[in-house]
Amino acid sequence: MSTTAADTTPRATRQTIDVRPITGALGAEVYGVDLANLSADALARIRQAFLDHSVLMFHGQTLSKEQFADFGRRFGELESEPFLPNKTEVPGIYYLRGAPRDGKSLSTQNLGWHADHSYQKNPSLGAMLYAIDIPPCGGDTLFASNYLAYEGLSQPMQDFLEDKIGIHDVLQYGLNSGHHSTSSVKAIEMLKAMRERYPQVEHPLVCRHPETGRKMLYINCAWTTAIKGLSHAESSAILAMLKAHTIKDIYACRFRYQPGSLLFWDNRAVQHSPNSDYTGQRLMWRLALHSSWEPGQ
Ligand SMILES: [Fe+2]
Repeated sequence: MSTTAADTTPRATRQTIDVRPITGALGAEVYGVDLANLSADALARIRQAFLDHSVLMFHGQTLSKEQFADFGRRFGELESEPFLPNKTEVPGIYYLRGAPRDGKSLSTQNLGWHADHSYQKNPSLGAMLYAIDIPPCGGDTLFASNYLAYEGLSQPMQDFLEDKIGIHDVLQYGLNSGHHSTSSVKAIEMLKAMRERYPQVEHPLVCRHPETGRKMLYINCAWTTAIKGLSHAESSAILAMLKAHTIKDIYACRFRYQPGSLLFWDNRAVQHSPNSDYTGQRLMWRLALHSSWEPGQ
């Protein structure tokens, strides 16, 4: 919509939002919106787009940390991150810093595909990243749809999984990700602290999204470690198949950042994978949103 000098409509109500899906699977870019000056109509459009597309990217935003936190709070309470050390002066906002080691890729530190906090009784609703300093290339984030993963299974497999329970265990973060060397005393102390704070939890493998009501496969490659009641061999084989299935290209999308990009994903409906393939500096601000949702409830 063009604006003329005669147009006296307040800026916050003039926004015409353009939601452009980036794949046939999930993810959309949202144009025509200033997240620091949101009208009620614009916010309602964003809420619906969030549920429809699971991941939204807003480019060209100019936000202070307080404005970033304000936008997050439109969707929920900000979650504290006890094991993220890089707090900012604004509660709930964290620095996410990456830098090359000896000029080499960060790929050995890659956590890989996961859903934030699935090892909690109440996993995060979602998370936001706001890009401050971005390398010339690399550092994209990949997403895969839990809805499509479920819908892509055969009917007999859907039926088999319907009443099965997944075990989610925080310790896989330390053991599988390469974030911590388990030979380090400090790392072992951290893993012990994680275990004390987060005992194993159980979530159904198949559940409905609490807002869309759509069925989804609720597993992730990092923290779903077993299927309750099955033998170790049975559980390992089926989970390996399911994990490979959930991240197929046809269920996935990929976002590239620019300085000023804000990415917002529905942690209940997707897995994500941060790609640590860049060799320059990168700085993002991060927030996560608390949820009272318990999968299967
Ligand atoms: Fe994450």
